[in-house]
Amino acid sequence: MRIAVLHNRRPEISNPSCDLPDDEYEEYDSVATIEAIATALRLTGLAHIVQPVEATRDLVARLDGHFDFVFNIAEGVGRRCREAVPAAVCELLGLPYTGSDPVTLGITLDKELARRVVSPDVPVALGLTDLDQIDQLRFPVIVKPRDEGSSKGIRQDAVCFHSHQAVARAHALRTIYGCPILVEEFLPGAEVTVAIAGNGNNAHILAMMEIAPVDHESVFLYSLERKREFHSSIRYHVPPRLPQTTLQRIERDALRAYHLLGCRDIARIDFRLDASGLPHFLECNPLPGLNPESGDLVIATRSTLRYADLVCGILRDAAVRKGVAL
Ligand SMILES: Nc1ncnc2c1ncn2[C@@H]1O[C@H](COP(=O)(O)OP(=O)(O)OP(=O)(O)O)[C@@H](O)[C@H]1O
Ligand SMILES: [Mg+2]
Repeated sequence: MRIAVLHNRRPEISNPSCDLPDDEYEEYDSVATIEAIATALRLTGLAHIVQPVEATRDLVARLDGHFDFVFNIAEGVGRRCREAVPAAVCELLGLPYTGSDPVTLGITLDKELARRVVSPDVPVALGLTDLDQIDQLRFPVIVKPRDEGSSKGIRQDAVCFHSHQAVARAHALRTIYGCPILVEEFLPGAEVTVAIAGNGNNAHILAMMEIAPVDHESVFLYSLERKREFHSSIRYHVPPRLPQTTLQRIERDALRAYHLLGCRDIARIDFRLDASGLPHFLECNPLPGLNPESGDLVIATRSTLRYADLVCGILRDAAVRKGVAL
């Protein structure tokens, strides 16, 4: 078995003279993540070749005939269809790959589309993409890129208390990132992320984790700044410090969202509670970050699952789904 670890690598050195924001490549994977996945796959002895392959323009030629399976973590290039493209190349070549298909990758990367798919079965915050209607929302609101991840563009100042502030924030995001905007009512309650694995009736919760600030904050955001300094500013609680009924509801809604969005093999789904304690879907990550130190899904599953078993579990689920013997 020859396995390609399909990825987009974060550039090592950012160029201070260029105009790109410092989180331009935030979603891309570090060499450490790519190597950790490759090492985990090699440890299993399931493959005699495990090779990192970057999702560049010549991807067809670099994959075709050289591999039997793809472990996909590639974020791609462009806007909301970028994650779908490397997976679509695998489809084109008839090459089995881990994780969700291009349709799911496209829908989930467009947060507004994902909200429409899961709602009303799963509650979402009131939100809109047309700034002309912003006064229909109750403030505070959060202004975020509609098609980004890894908190790219979501800094501590993403929460806005007045419409003029929100409009200015939206214009700034459009200018810096060239992205469409999603404005949502701010959910002030606890934040929980849910790791899910498997397919069909075998889809199951791997872990639920509450993400909380070290010190109480009146407006807590798991922002870019907080993610980058997570060692000192964030406490992760597994399981979340929430009532059993709330946890059961999050479990149910997470599995619902996983199925409604057509997720496969693995995903991480984010929730936040409103002021009355009702969980709301924020977004779904079908290519969850797998950095062994900082990946939220890895942190959430750390106490029950070794890193190598997590990675190989994703591969095994994909192989079973495709009927491929490992
Ligand atoms: N409606 C909301 N109410 C309160 N907080 C929110 C809301 N939307 C987003 N947030 C905060 O902003 C953070 C980032 O938002 P979101 O999960 O949508 O972005 P992301 O960049 O796709 O995240 P990820 O790193 O999980 O890919 C959330 O973890 C949460 O703390
Ligand atoms: Mg998120």
